[in-house]
Amino acid sequence: MGHVAELAGVSVRTLHHYDQVGLVRPSARTAAGYRAYSAGDVERLREVLAYRRLGFGLREVAELVGDPATDTVAHLRRLRALVLERRDRADAVVAAIDRELAARAKGVKVTPEEQLGMLGARLYDTIGGAYPATRRTDPRIAAQIREALGDARTVLNVGAGTGSYEPADREVTAVEPSAVMRAQRPAGAAPCVAAAAESLPFRDGAFDVAMAVSTVHHWGDPLAGLREMRRVARRVVVLTFDTDEPGWQDRFWLTRDYLPEFASVLADFPPLAAMAGAIGARAEPVPVPWDCADGLFEAYWRRPEAYLEERVRRAVSVWTKVGPEAEQRAVRSLGADLGSGRWAERNSALAGLGAADLGLRLLVA
Ligand SMILES: C[S@@+](CC[C@H](N)C(=O)[O-])C[C@H]1O[C@@H](n2cnc3c(N)ncnc32)[C@H](O)[C@@H]1O
Repeated sequence: MGHVAELAGVSVRTLHHYDQVGLVRPSARTAAGYRAYSAGDVERLREVLAYRRLGFGLREVAELVGDPATDTVAHLRRLRALVLERRDRADAVVAAIDRELAARAKGVKVTPEEQLGMLGARLYDTIGGAYPATRRTDPRIAAQIREALGDARTVLNVGAGTGSYEPADREVTAVEPSAVMRAQRPAGAAPCVAAAAESLPFRDGAFDVAMAVSTVHHWGDPLAGLREMRRVARRVVVLTFDTDEPGWQDRFWLTRDYLPEFASVLADFPPLAAMAGAIGARAEPVPVPWDCADGLFEAYWRRPEAYLEERVRRAVSVWTKVGPEAEQRAVRSLGADLGSGRWAERNSALAGLGAADLGLRLLVA
């Protein structure tokens, strides 16, 4: 045990603890009859330590290494993907810190609004590369947004990302703080300014309409950003999410049964009424079609298997925000319920529905 502890760089106490809780048991015996670690035990210990170093809790690690469907190669693949994801995240944070240090060294003042605004951009500089895989314009949601835009000729699209929902027949200016997202805008897309909603670099009333789609929840100060939109445009159209209704977490089976942590992601998000009040807007429901083409968090409410796909989850920030532990647990538990038929049993009422109201709202002011 002492030898293995030294090799693995952990204390003998840790190994004793893993033994006691049944996580890694020394299953071999030495010639003198002492318990010893077999090659298989050491392999398992390596997996346990790697998951622990990635921040998984002991219970979670036990489930991960105990999964009979996962062999060593599958573990190594999963670990590799997790480590790369962490590295990308850390690289993006380092890049953002370097940018801010460079700005400060030049004496450029970074306002609190900009600092907060850049938080959302930092996230998208990290995860944005996975966005275009599944996030694109859904024609039915686009039609509802178009209707709200009315006859506006000049359009400001705030938090524009890769340009979904930007009307092709208007004069569009995009605002997007994440360099990664700006770089993924298709050739020929509207011109895009690097700025954040909280301090829009435009004069009062510069646009007929300002629109924002699936972005307000990323802003450091949503109400300040909405007021800015109101300042620079005569009309404001915002696709956002309603958390006012008590028990809103239960509207969607994914948050109700598998990912209750979603509530904490939106814990500081302003109530819909406050957002509507900030810009004098009315709110209308935006039903999510059963075959929604935009892979938003709620998009696959009638296609639950999609949530088991890594590329589907990586294009939605919620999964990064709840952290790998909650994500893996939710996915495993959903996978099990799909396999056993429990999901279908619980959600049989959804089978024939064409669209569902899952809390998406269009604010129109
Ligand atoms: C989920 S994406 C939505 C992109 C696009 N509107 C769409 O519907 O596909 C959210 C976007 O908001 C941007 N964002 C984050 N913080 C922001 C801020 N403070 N002001 C403006 N945009 C922000 C992110 O960089 C990201 O591109």
